Amino acid sequence: MATAAALPTKAPADNRLKMLDAAMTRHRHQPDALIEILHTAQELYGYLDLDCLKYVGRCLKVPPSRVYGVATFYNVFTLKPRGEHTCVVCLGTACYVKGTATILSALEREHHLEVGGTTPDGTLSLVSARCLGACGLAPVLVFDQEIAGRVTAETALARTRNWMEQP
Ligand code: FES
Repeated sequence: MATAAALPTKAPADNRLKMLDAAMTRHRHQPDALIEILHTAQELYGYLDLDCLKYVGRCLKVPPSRVYGVATFYNVFTLKPRGEHTCVVCLGTACYVKGTATILSALEREHHLEVGGTTPDGTLSLVSARCLGACGLAPVLVFDQEIAGRVTAETALARTRNWMEQP
């Protein structure tokens, strides 16, 4: 079990939806931007669930069948987390400067996997993102759906080890 000292002290707001909206606004909600927007959504969330696909479709005025078709056609997209748990490491500039590359390396070493990979037992997927919209609390990671700020390598290892040790 993680000690209190290993837990993040402050939970940043989850700005991922705002960032997804901002990306769609930048593209003026053009249906042609669908693939780019799906890339952004996957970078933010680690995968594309059905609610996310529906949301993007509604915003870009693209029929759900087409959004689903595009998301399933390209194997760069994944519709569910590959592992039971997902750890997203932000490699955006603010987080990178504050050491997320070191945290990522520690996670890769500890769990014998590379970013984008999943442990052989399917427990943990390790994903990177460009910016999660919480730069003020860098370095930022997401443990499943929980965004954590000012994460250290020790915190990240404690959280992921905890997942790996669960029966
Ligand atoms: S760079 Fe990591 S949250 Fe913005």
